[in-house]
Amino acid sequence: MKGSVVLLLVAAISWVLITRAESADYRLSRSVVPSFYNITIDFRKSWKKIGLQYDGEVAITLQTNQSDISEITLHGYFYMSSCLIYNKDGILHQNVSITSLKNDRETRKLTVPLLEPLTVNENYTLYFQYEGHVDVYEEGVVLTGYEVADKRYDVIVTQLDPVYAPRVFPCFDDPSLKAKFELHISRPSEYNVISNTKLVRTTDIGNDRFMDHFDVTPIMSTHLLAFVISEYQARGNLSDFAVLSAPEYYNYTEFSYNVGKNTLMAYNDLFEVPYKELGNEVLQFAVAPWFDTARPNWGLITFSEVLLVHKPGYTDGHRNKEATCRAIAHELALMWFGNSVTISWWSHLWLSVGFAAYYENFMSDELCSDYDLEELFVVNNLQKCLEDDAAITSLPLTRLETEIQSPAEIKNQSNTFVYDKGASIIRMWHDIMGQDNFNKSIKSYLKEFHLKNVEPSDLFAHLKRNWPAQPEVDLDTFFADFTEQPGYPMVIVNISDDNQRVILHQKRFLYDPEDGSDATLRYTIPITFTTNLDTKFYNNSTPYTYFHKNMSTVEISFDEPIEWIVLNLQQSNYYRVLYDKPILSKLLSPSNRFRIPQTNRAQIVDDLFIFAHAGMIDYTDVFEFLEYLNMEIQYLPWKAAYHGMERVARRLTPQQLPHFEKYLRNITYRAFNHVNIQSKSYPFGVYNQVLQLSWLCKYQNEDCNKLVKFMFEQNIEKPSPDFRETIYCGVSRTSAHAEVWRIYQNETDEDEKDLLLRAIACTRDYRTFLKLELFHLIPDPGRLIGIKLIYQQNPDLITPIFETIIENIEELS
Ligand SMILES: *[C@@H]1O[C@H](CO)[C@@H](O)[C@H](O)[C@H]1NC(C)=O
Ligand SMILES: *[C@@H]1O[C@H](CO)[C@@H](O)[C@H](O)[C@H]1NC(C)=O
Ligand SMILES: *[C@@H]1O[C@H](CO)[C@@H](O)[C@H](O)[C@H]1NC(C)=O
Ligand SMILES: *[C@@H]1O[C@H](CO)[C@@H](O)[C@H](O)[C@H]1NC(C)=O
Ligand SMILES: *[C@@H]1O[C@H](CO)[C@@H](O)[C@H](O)[C@H]1NC(C)=O
Repeated sequence: MKGSVVLLLVAAISWVLITRAESADYRLSRSVVPSFYNITIDFRKSWKKIGLQYDGEVAITLQTNQSDISEITLHGYFYMSSCLIYNKDGILHQNVSITSLKNDRETRKLTVPLLEPLTVNENYTLYFQYEGHVDVYEEGVVLTGYEVADKRYDVIVTQLDPVYAPRVFPCFDDPSLKAKFELHISRPSEYNVISNTKLVRTTDIGNDRFMDHFDVTPIMSTHLLAFVISEYQARGNLSDFAVLSAPEYYNYTEFSYNVGKNTLMAYNDLFEVPYKELGNEVLQFAVAPWFDTARPNWGLITFSEVLLVHKPGYTDGHRNKEATCRAIAHELALMWFGNSVTISWWSHLWLSVGFAAYYENFMSDELCSDYDLEELFVVNNLQKCLEDDAAITSLPLTRLETEIQSPAEIKNQSNTFVYDKGASIIRMWHDIMGQDNFNKSIKSYLKEFHLKNVEPSDLFAHLKRNWPAQPEVDLDTFFADFTEQPGYPMVIVNISDDNQRVILHQKRFLYDPEDGSDATLRYTIPITFTTNLDTKFYNNSTPYTYFHKNMSTVEISFDEPIEWIVLNLQQSNYYRVLYDKPILSKLLSPSNRFRIPQTNRAQIVDDLFIFAHAGMIDYTDVFEFLEYLNMEIQYLPWKAAYHGMERVARRLTPQQLPHFEKYLRNITYRAFNHVNIQSKSYPFGVYNQVLQLSWLCKYQNEDCNKLVKFMFEQNIEKPSPDFRETIYCGVSRTSAHAEVWRIYQNETDEDEKDLLLRAIACTRDYRTFLKLELFHLIPDPGRLIGIKLIYQQNPDLITPIFETIIENIEELS
């Protein structure tokens, strides 16, 4: 009996799910178009600080282009107290009964029935009075806060991007249904409010409360509206450019302020239409406590605290500043590629975030030039993306509109793959066209579509206008190959016996060609190369030719025998290169290898690991090749090498580990000698030192452990932020593990405490850790992380750690 009930239930549920999936229609029709929102948000009078509810009012000016509509459908899910429709003269057209409003939880649609149709192309005002709620997650109007000296301060931050506007006010939440917004917000006297635009005036509404009135925004998408209620202090000028943070952190926002200012000037020059002429004079960066990302609201960009505030000795390391440089360049680019020029639908998201991720790496101002972001892009973004884009799960950049419909699908679109592949493909076009042609196209594109919406073809049309005539290529096919097809190709390089002809083949690169992916896909591939006859790695990104889709091979002939050849210079194009053995061995000969720039060395290392992972070459060949690393001191090849080794190292047995340590010791001979205690080095130098320390100590290299201990004793309280976690972790591995605990117990900064906990999990005293510390000292969420870290950090102890976990499984669960 019970069984059949369950079965019935299962059947009913799956039936519901199926019909939902088929019938749910999330998109709004275009029959009603809004042009203006007048919004008032009044936090409850009864509250002490910031109340958890607010009274909302919104008056939406709209028009219809259809003569027979019987209802207006928009988005929103609220408790309503009034719904009225006025005609263009402000005369009541319909008092809509609240009970006749239809709300659908799944699609978030709100339907207003009309008693008589609206006159075509005439303005009406749809007015709602409703009750809104403050959220404690990152959706809609969010209550967050911060603590200084044991005192808590509340902060209200909004996050409407990408799909949360309908949680804040009834609206037409579709990026192409742009409108202007006017916002009125109440606040207690000790707080201040900032929003997208200038504060126009403030009115006293009694009870120690004030209403702030903001200027009308430019025409923009609903998800760009924002406000922050706080006790923040501004660095800079609120009617121009300012960074806002807790007053206690004012002194620590100088770096982010200067980066913001410089980057803004650089974009103003580059894009021709300066920021202010886009339609909004103010630009504010504000801290969104607890948020771990940034949001590009027009005029009010919110950032996580660590991106704007650099606390001396805590968050002012190279890594922190690099992250700030990136985030600011990224979010600011979106003022043009997102707010002014907007995607027509989320399926084209790469058109905006791809440019943001591109400029993040290629536009950073001089304060950030130390970070060599262009070179980092290859190992951090491009190679990561190539790694993810080679299986049945690979998706094309441009998706079908029908595939991206529900809020969940829209949120999923915003992932690092779309960012990184978008940026990689844009970089490829940029490098082929050359800077000047590319910039010309971008300027005219931004100008034509200012305040409008775009699809990929709109961008392509502008790229085509300035595309160089030679070598010939069918641009429509080339653009489509890398945006509408999933995945990417590999080019196989063979050489003739007389070393005068190089023969190229292409195929789609897949880890497993049998996994159901379309292995027959082909691509239009730009071929760039250099040889020992004409060593030219830079400023040489114009393709020699294209590998067209209909050709079976491409041949390159030379007048005399060549010694070596490198393809895909700077890895500026989106493919991998497999060199046949005779070529590879010459590339690596001691006299040749360092003629190849570090980006291309990193590329070769990364490709080799991935080809080995895919079973196309032997790992023995890879490790043989990696022996060249014993002469390598540059960061990028090491980064690629360790990334590749990680996959291999995870599979080593405890018996194999000592051999691995010996191998590491050999190949790191020179790089490790560059590690020094004075960390005043340039960023890549510091990154490389941290990388070497974390690997060598993890695999129990004696010199590494000694060095870390020494570094710790020299500077017991605060190693510099870049080194800190690695050093604390290394120290935890040695007998000084209790020292790190003592530091933890004295520490008050929450982020720093997390860092220390991660470091403590490196201890080899796993019994004490698992029994005492994990159970009694580490707060709950920290435990899972602790367990995961302790075995990741001590690969040789995996078996005893696992046994101890099993012994204590009851206590743990
Ligand atoms: C918007 O609403 C406020 C408050 O109801 C009102 O004072 C203001 O005039 C309205 N703005 C426009 C442009 O109608
Ligand atoms: C309708 O309202 C919008 C926004 O207030 C305004 O810009 C537009 O001129 C109005 N249209 C007509 C026909 O009155
Ligand atoms: C900020 O810097 C000023 C000037 O250097 C100093 O007087 C002030 O105490 C600092 N404030 C904080 C909170 O550190
Ligand atoms: C070309 O190189 C690939 C990769 O090393 C190899 O498998 C293939 O046999 C080579 N082809 C010829 C004709 O040498
Ligand atoms: C912890 O703080 C106390 C009091 O400020 C200090 O005396 C002690 O040295 C600190 N311990 C460590 C490990 O920093």
